[in-house]
Amino acid sequence: MTQHDRLLIIDFGSQVTQLIARRLRELNVFCEIHPYQKVTDAFLAEFRPRAVIFSGGPDSVVREGSPRPPKTVYELGVPILGICYGQQVMMQDLGGQVDGGKISGGGGTAEFGRAFVTPAGEPLSILQGWFAEGKEQVWMSHGDHVSKIAPGFEVFGTSPNAPYAVTADVERHFYAVQFHPEVHHTPNGKMLYENFVRAAGFKGDWTMGAYREEAIAKIREQVGDKKVICGLSGGVDSSVAAVLIHEAIGDQLTCVFVDHGLLRQNEADEVVTMFRDHYNIPLIHADESRLFLSNLEGVSDPETKRKIIGKLFIDVFQKYANEIDGAEFLAQGTLYPDVIESVSFSGGPSVTIKSHHNVGGLPEKMGLKLVEPLRELFKDEVRALGRELGLPDSFIGRHPFPGPGLAIRCPGEITGEKLEILRKADAVYIDQIRKHGLYDEIWQAFVAILPVRTVGVMGDGRTYDYACALRAVTSVDGMTADYYPFTHEFLGETATRIINEVQGINRCTYDITSKPPGTIEWE
Ligand code: XMP
Repeated sequence: MTQHDRLLIIDFGSQVTQLIARRLRELNVFCEIHPYQKVTDAFLAEFRPRAVIFSGGPDSVVREGSPRPPKTVYELGVPILGICYGQQVMMQDLGGQVDGGKISGGGGTAEFGRAFVTPAGEPLSILQGWFAEGKEQVWMSHGDHVSKIAPGFEVFGTSPNAPYAVTADVERHFYAVQFHPEVHHTPNGKMLYENFVRAAGFKGDWTMGAYREEAIAKIREQVGDKKVICGLSGGVDSSVAAVLIHEAIGDQLTCVFVDHGLLRQNEADEVVTMFRDHYNIPLIHADESRLFLSNLEGVSDPETKRKIIGKLFIDVFQKYANEIDGAEFLAQGTLYPDVIESVSFSGGPSVTIKSHHNVGGLPEKMGLKLVEPLRELFKDEVRALGRELGLPDSFIGRHPFPGPGLAIRCPGEITGEKLEILRKADAVYIDQIRKHGLYDEIWQAFVAILPVRTVGVMGDGRTYDYACALRAVTSVDGMTADYYPFTHEFLGETATRIINEVQGINRCTYDITSKPPGTIEWE
């Protein structure tokens, strides 16, 4: 448990609850999201929040049995901010009234999308800095609406369809807003959160420096003098976890780097040099490329490739891990979005875990306990921690790379020859992107070698070589993506370089498919 002041976000199932946490973390405030079903009197007594936020949610407070927080939350004496459904919960619980809108059969006006709030009454502390231009854009998304505010509350902001857009019981520090301040379309929403946490007395001391110290102390306490194994992939998450754990327990940590022969040019050497030579972390380089490639021979179905690679990966990891005498813990780079319990209305709270976790199922199989020092962090916070630990920027900012590696960038059958050509083409492409200063603007970029040979002419001769596709996308989370709009000059120059410098490729195409309907990878 962290020693910092903590803010509790009670989740009523909004799609954007995670964004509330993001906004607060940006303000160096430590917060945790918990589903409303879990927030009991005992939970509150143990959690001891300095402030509470009620998230939005899809239900209707006028419905019998709809989600509620325990009544004791109002007696904690701490500031509370209710957002959308959370606002309506607060009003209903404290003696106001909510009318059902169209969605819940009440016939009232629903409101979705952009709206403008204007001030009403006295200036309100949490709206400090707002209304510089008379009104503020906010994002609304509600079916029901408050028809009578609770005793003690006053109105501080209104919008054409929401007369109670902002209300507050100033004395008790209860604030209720109809809109979503956490989303991008409420441009000054962050200011509202900042005012709220400042009024609640948060010091904003949850920094990466502090996190590092606390995480190290926690790892030492958990592990004692026992040994830890960490599967290193060369990606940011497992690398940051490894460096942090090494800082905590030194050589009690051994990393296992499974080299499946499907990595990019020089990648294996770079990982080994960085971790073994630069950080002095005991590292087993499991070079099993032959094993993987021989098992993939003749296989062209994408899902079969993934299954073969996934199964071999676990076997190989286990074989090497068994060589480490007395290991009791397995380190994993699990992140906060993987472990947030989501509110489920069909059953109890459910836990979402990434399906392509490389060593999924291994801890139980090997009887290992888990060390997960990044469980409380979002991806960009992991990057910040990596910088804090001294990992080079060029490494931390690397594009994501899939577990099955180049296998899914080589549609059809994989051969050693194709992989070699692909590695070279990819290196030229990434070099071009870096030279043009575009690397950080692009979310992910790579070359795929196509399972087709085409005719070309080079010098006076005919060629019959592979075609390749260049891929570059912008994205926030990989769930949706758009192709990157390179200039024709860039594309022309890159195609020329690849065809001139990489023997085996005589044709270059650019993939301009977005996701959906395409996926980022070709397989
Ligand atoms: P897609 O191709 O599904 O990719 O649009 C979205 C993101 O996920 C990565 N990806 C994978 N990562 N194992 C992984 O660890 C996989 O099997 C896998 N498939 C895709 C992909 O590189 C992109 O970042």
